[in-house]
Amino acid sequence: MGAGLLSPTARRAPFITFEGGEGGGKTTQIARLAETLRARNIAVETTREPGGTDGAELIRDLLVHGPTDRWLPLTETMLHVAARHEHVARRIRPALEQGRWVLCDRFLDSTRIYQGVAAGVAMETIDALHRLALDGLVPDLTLILDLASEAGLSRRARAGGAERYERMGAAFHQRVRDGFRALAESQPERCVLIDANRSKEQVAADIWLTVRTRLLRDRT
Ligand code: TMP
Repeated sequence: MGAGLLSPTARRAPFITFEGGEGGGKTTQIARLAETLRARNIAVETTREPGGTDGAELIRDLLVHGPTDRWLPLTETMLHVAARHEHVARRIRPALEQGRWVLCDRFLDSTRIYQGVAAGVAMETIDALHRLALDGLVPDLTLILDLASEAGLSRRARAGGAERYERMGAAFHQRVRDGFRALAESQPERCVLIDANRSKEQVAADIWLTVRTRLLRDRT
């Protein structure tokens, strides 16, 4: 049981997703939030997409390497959703039901933005696949780390990443950024836009304030 949970999902622990374009610092911020929660004796699991289970990590390898045109957009969508089905059923949902908070690096919004907004797959197709694959699981809170796409891509390049998605071109990544910003505006009850163009400490403080306010109001 997620102690102190305010949302209507009080039967399970909170599920928080981190989203945004490339190089926004999600991995660092997930580790920091997990540490902060654990210091308050809250059980936390951190994970990522595509991936998070042995099978889903195999699917990840198919998606993040190779030529940019390796997959047709719909095939790519189905691979992401297949990996997500494994991840939700085998790992995320069991953890939440056992009372562990789950912090996930990317989730369904990445498919809606990368494959939907940026690559042109119809949103109704993506939503239909998610209805099949997720059994109704929706994040309680989605933190969108927002950064100019050129800045994010050059951060990633400096970190040695030149993977498939990073090679998709400037216009693609601009659509990704715009898509996430529009998502934050259209779903303010679930999504919070975080300015990632600041120090790690400032970003972490902002995230912690958001989590406290939204999910822990009665504990701190
Ligand atoms: P990462 O770099 O954040 O680990 O994510 C791997 C890449 O996969 C990233 O460039 C975004 C992309 N991606 C999608 O296109 N659709 C999805 O549904 C997910 C989860 C990731």
